[in-house]
Amino acid sequence: MSLYALGDLHLHFQAELKSPAQMQGVWRNHEEKFRRHCETLIGKDDTLLLLGDHSWGRTIGECELDFRYIQALPGHKILLRGNHDMFWDVKKTDALSRRFEGRLQFLQNNYQVYHAKDGDVALVGTKGYTFEGPFYLNRSGRITGWDEDAEAHAQKLVAREAERLEISFQKAIADGYRRFIMLLHYPPTNILERESIFTRMAEKYCAEQVIYAHCHGETRFHDSLEGTFHGIEYHLASGDYLKWKPLKVMD
Ligand SMILES: [Fe+2]
Ligand SMILES: [Fe+2]
Repeated sequence: MSLYALGDLHLHFQAELKSPAQMQGVWRNHEEKFRRHCETLIGKDDTLLLLGDHSWGRTIGECELDFRYIQALPGHKILLRGNHDMFWDVKKTDALSRRFEGRLQFLQNNYQVYHAKDGDVALVGTKGYTFEGPFYLNRSGRITGWDEDAEAHAQKLVAREAERLEISFQKAIADGYRRFIMLLHYPPTNILERESIFTRMAEKYCAEQVIYAHCHGETRFHDSLEGTFHGIEYHLASGDYLKWKPLKVMD
């Protein structure tokens, strides 16, 4: 049995795309590439974490075919909320879980359990948030300043997401879990930071790994932490970074 992760499918079986770039290069037939990788790698007892930005559809109705595609993928599917997932109102997560009961699980203000070969692990997570500018650059591309109002607004969103993540950890702890994999849609730090409220929370609860997505394109792949930092493994698992091959998280 294995646990896999990948984010940012940005499916559009129904929703109309605004930019042709979303269908070119690594994005060309990406849903077909991902499906083939999943069918090769993932068995029916495995678990697949989908780390947000599932669909361009704005309502559940507009995501119907995208959900159908996700449900047909092998393994148990657990979904995290991304910034583009307009169909997913946080306050209505329970309704979403009921609607897809037995088919899909939704990670928000709760946790899921993965039965790893060396013991149970709690999967905790939330969308997260990072300040993404605008940044002001000099001629050599160095950051010389940034939009402070936008940063102040971002701090509020970061605080709210950190609160949601804390709820997720606390629920798992209350049920006796002590091993954690922490999931975020946004990267845990922005390009100005080496640590954040999210990295500190991962350290506080001794998360074994932090897996995040959201960063698209060569210029964004190294915006945040990769590899081991303060004893925790960080992995970017956005679909275009992984070229649509799910990341194996653990057995
Ligand atoms: Fe995305
Ligand atoms: Fe995103």
